[in-house]
Amino acid sequence: MTLDVAAIRADFPVLARKVRGGNPLIYLDSGATAHKPVQVLDAERDFYLRHNAAAHRGTHLLGEEATDAYESARARIAAFIGADAGEIVFTRNATEAANLIAYSVSNAATCGPAGGQAAGTPAARLAVGPGDEVLVTELEHHANLVPWQQLCQRTGATLRWFGVTSDGRVDLSEIGSLISDRTKIVAISHQSNVTGAIPPLPQIAQAAHAVGAIVVADAAQSVPHHPVRVKETGADLLYFSGHKMLAPTGIGVLWGRRELLEAMPPFITGGSMIEVVRIEGSTFLPPPQRFEAGVPAVAQAVGLAAACDYLDDVGMANVAAHEEALTARALEALADIQGVRVLGPLTTQDRGGAVSFIIDEVHPHDAGQVLDELGIAVRTGHHCAWPLHRALGVQASTRASFYLYNTPDEVDALADGIRTAQKFFWAD
Ligand SMILES: Cc1ncc(COP(=O)(O)O)c(C=O)c1O
Repeated sequence: MTLDVAAIRADFPVLARKVRGGNPLIYLDSGATAHKPVQVLDAERDFYLRHNAAAHRGTHLLGEEATDAYESARARIAAFIGADAGEIVFTRNATEAANLIAYSVSNAATCGPAGGQAAGTPAARLAVGPGDEVLVTELEHHANLVPWQQLCQRTGATLRWFGVTSDGRVDLSEIGSLISDRTKIVAISHQSNVTGAIPPLPQIAQAAHAVGAIVVADAAQSVPHHPVRVKETGADLLYFSGHKMLAPTGIGVLWGRRELLEAMPPFITGGSMIEVVRIEGSTFLPPPQRFEAGVPAVAQAVGLAAACDYLDDVGMANVAAHEEALTARALEALADIQGVRVLGPLTTQDRGGAVSFIIDEVHPHDAGQVLDELGIAVRTGHHCAWPLHRALGVQASTRASFYLYNTPDEVDALADGIRTAQKFFWAD
């Protein structure tokens, strides 16, 4: 089904803006953060207007309503990704979810879920230390790299990584030696935010599970753009951010297999996550509450649930098909421009809608500035994936990323804008 993009765009008032001297805004930076439809804004506002209270705290009516709104949002998000509500942990964003896992793993070495642990308990099995390995890839966003580097520093475990191929995919040629009995965690992107590459997660997960490793998937760029059924991904833990999928900032999701979440010690501690507190020590609630200390972000969770409604109404398969068509058009248009190199696969096979490129003799920041003058918003820099840029032999790149509200005309405008930048900088 083709999307009614005009009707969709009408739900996003910001897209009607004229910018930089009257140019229509062309927003090609949804990989960084997506715009929000009025339905999401209304849901968040309605919560504040009518129900605002601290969830899981008050005994009064508003407290009850806030708790219902928060827990209904959890169930809605679970349905969106094919999970059970009890497996959904709300976090602040994807970055916090990655840190939650990494800190929980290192806390497993020192304190179990109930505040102490015996050898052989599930929490003890989570712990990593010298001789153990954590395996990542060279194409990770820093959010799925730095927390693992830090985990290794804290515990003495060793960080290892898959390299990348020249077209920006995970290089699996050494999978046989990289995944071994020493591997305890494999943390991998579900879709690259730079090259758009979609790694073969089920294949990697199978190899990881064969040696008893835990598989963590960074789904920040996949869940917003494709239908994802978490239980079919092969991951044991998977996380994403609400703000990249039409929801407000300040809300993210960690999904985990129930038995694994149950074995994980908390990361952030304090109110709302405890079972019994005595002055000398505390015990903790089961997941997901164990991981949600403090007054939760209820309005943001409500907004995320409304975003799931919106995306499901459009149909995630339709969203994916629309973006694939835009990506194909962009790849074709950029291939036609001399002096432009795409950093990533050149077809839409196992590839999402992030199209990063470099223009000969034009610095990405300069390209971004020319495009911005034309009203075209793109991302420039290393996109929080510095090791990947190094591996591909470049300092930085310009990235266009698409979503359900983008049009083929906007892709063509990007290509025209690149030509304008070339004329401008090549004229000297
Ligand atoms: C692949 C990937 N992982 C993780 C993140 C981190 O997301 P957030 O900044 O919302 O925590 C991003 C953000 O760009 C991303 O693209």
